Amino acid sequence: MYKIVDKKQLNEAVELMVIKAPYVARKCEPGQFIILRADNNSERIPLTIADYNREEETVTIIYQVVGYSTKVLYEKQVGDSVVDFVGPLGKPTELKKHKKVLGIGGGVGAAPLYPQIRKLHEMGVEVDVILGGRSDEYIILEEEFKAVTKNLYFATNDGSKGKEGFVTDILNELIANGEEYDEVIAIGPLVMMKAVVGITKPLNIQTAVSLNPVMIDGTGMCGGCRVTVGNEIKFACVDGPDFDGLLVDFDECLRRQNMYKEEEHSCRIGLEG
Ligand code: FES
Repeated sequence: MYKIVDKKQLNEAVELMVIKAPYVARKCEPGQFIILRADNNSERIPLTIADYNREEETVTIIYQVVGYSTKVLYEKQVGDSVVDFVGPLGKPTELKKHKKVLGIGGGVGAAPLYPQIRKLHEMGVEVDVILGGRSDEYIILEEEFKAVTKNLYFATNDGSKGKEGFVTDILNELIANGEEYDEVIAIGPLVMMKAVVGITKPLNIQTAVSLNPVMIDGTGMCGGCRVTVGNEIKFACVDGPDFDGLLVDFDECLRRQNMYKEEEHSCRIGLEG
């Protein structure tokens, strides 16, 4: 059993949870994920590690309440436990000692982006970050990013924080203003990552993305997390979750994601009903 030592509501649908998990906390690196089960009846939920504290042996996860199992997790309180917390899974992100990097985090994608940006900052890399969300309250981890970035930009759909529009509007502006980045790291909804790559690919700017397809076993056995990268089949759970964004077949990822829309919908109806 893994004890919940802290939890914080970040907005109406997103929660941060700190869990005592000594083995994972000792071994994990930015980019890796865990699979948890809130209780014996819950499904496995894959979640990227948002932060970790090796001394306190804790791992921070940030998740969105989107279905039955995340609702069960959400209802747990500090002092309660989750039954499984398996990891670290996946490959750690290969962070290079570039001169200048741009991070782009869409919605809850800011959570897995943060440990990568923090590590780059520790490595002495100059980092700018764009955070985007539906509105002001959907921007998460602002203070944490502020501490490790040179410039922090915001884009919201309704203009309640930063620029009214999308993260890609700011990306276009930065490029038009002559900013040069050795690498862009984009983590967020598939459509956002696809749009970012639509800008960076023609300019041949190295772009890393983190894919979060449906995962079942998390060990490369079930094929649920299959993605195509550079015309090769990869499994996000063992070959990723980070991939070269310039090579990812986003249209296939979007088609596969939509295959499960109906199940998600019935799950939500179950929750509401
Ligand atoms: Fe089963 Fe990746 S989750 S192969």
